[in-house]
Amino acid sequence: MKSSIWGMITIASLIVAGTALAADMPAAGKAKCGVCHAVDKKSVGPSYMDISAKYKNDKDAASKIAASTTQGGSFGWKIGTMPPKGMGASDADIKLMSEYIAGLAK
Ligand code: HEC
Repeated sequence: MKSSIWGMITIASLIVAGTALAADMPAAGKAKCGVCHAVDKKSVGPSYMDISAKYKNDKDAASKIAASTTQGGSFGWKIGTMPPKGMGASDADIKLMSEYIAGLAK
């Protein structure tokens, strides 16, 4: 009985951690990417969840996402064209956002 209570507490804290992740988007994400991307809904561009799923089993996910974001263009989503670096994101912004996006599907 005692151990099952601990089990429930562990599950509850994992859920809280997952929610915190979604709320944890770097501020640059809203300012420099938010016009075209949302976390879980397709907007002008694909959702971060969908992008994360695309790179899910790739151990280089974060660096590939960073490379796409820096270059801009089309990546096969057939939605449109992304401007290089979004709305003027710095390399540091892009690194934070790429790690954030890569972490969503794990
Ligand atoms: C003006 C709109 C616009 C802005 C701003 C924008 N994006 Fe995009 N993004 C797009 C579109 C459109 C696509 C899909 C292109 C296609 O059809 O393949 C895309 C695709 C992507 C992809 C998918 C890359 C891949 O390899 O599949 C990533 C990652 C991404 N954007 C990240 C970002 C980040 C991070 C920012 C902010 C720094 C940002 N975008 C800002 C429009 C935008």
